[in-house]
Amino acid sequence: MEPDPRSQRQAAAATARGPEPDERPRSIAIIMDGNGRWASARGLPVADGHREGARALRRTVEAAIDLEIGSLAVYAFSTENWARPADEVGSILELLDETIDRELPDLARQGVRTRFFGRRDRIPDGLREKIAALEAETAANDRLHLWIAFDYGGRAELVEATRRLLRDGVPPEDVSEETLAERLYARELPDPDLVIRTSGEQRLSNFLLWQSAYAELVFVDTLWPEFGEEALRAAVEEYARRARRFGAR
Ligand code: FPP
Repeated sequence: MEPDPRSQRQAAAATARGPEPDERPRSIAIIMDGNGRWASARGLPVADGHREGARALRRTVEAAIDLEIGSLAVYAFSTENWARPADEVGSILELLDETIDRELPDLARQGVRTRFFGRRDRIPDGLREKIAALEAETAANDRLHLWIAFDYGGRAELVEATRRLLRDGVPPEDVSEETLAERLYARELPDPDLVIRTSGEQRLSNFLLWQSAYAELVFVDTLWPEFGEEALRAAVEEYARRARRFGAR
């Protein structure tokens, strides 16, 4: 079949000004990968890669606000990441602490509501309290919902949801997609329309396994510390092209 010229014109216009609001993903999830490679390519310690990664997160959150994305979920620390060298784990915990003190209050003033999801019992007490305080302080914000996955694993989340079903005494005939989804770590986290992974790797790595069932997946070669507005916009445009299925049914 000949390509539809109207669709082609619409595509060209969308590229020039960015996708129309109703063609944009409402919920985006990002696997922020490549901090280590960014650092080692520069002969820097891995902690510097994570620090630059935190700056990229700040830029990306601000770009998501501009693009009117309602929800952004990012994979900051997986259940498997505890197995990294102790000094690297320490540097990520420290960076999170600093990010809560310095970056997130600024983003809160721009209307960002921040919530964390994953296990909390292994996070040091002081940091856990800071997380809870930030969540409480930003609870009324609604411009962008930022979800930070910390000590998170998709399989662990499903195991925990199953435990909750059993603890709640839900009879087998009442176990459904709804009753299980209500028991995930973050029951209000919308399913991502778009999942982006940076650094050229093409895996989900245990991120949002349940929630990503119907997500569009976009893999980009950019290392996470180099990600920002332009790369986010390009991924959103890629999503819009796929969601509109030019010329197809
Ligand atoms: C992957 O890079 C990234 C992580 C392990 C997560 C760290 C994320 C950040 C520091 C962003 C800031 C977030 C917060 C909230 C502090 P990698 O080290 O696995 O990269 P590699 O595959 O090149 O080694």
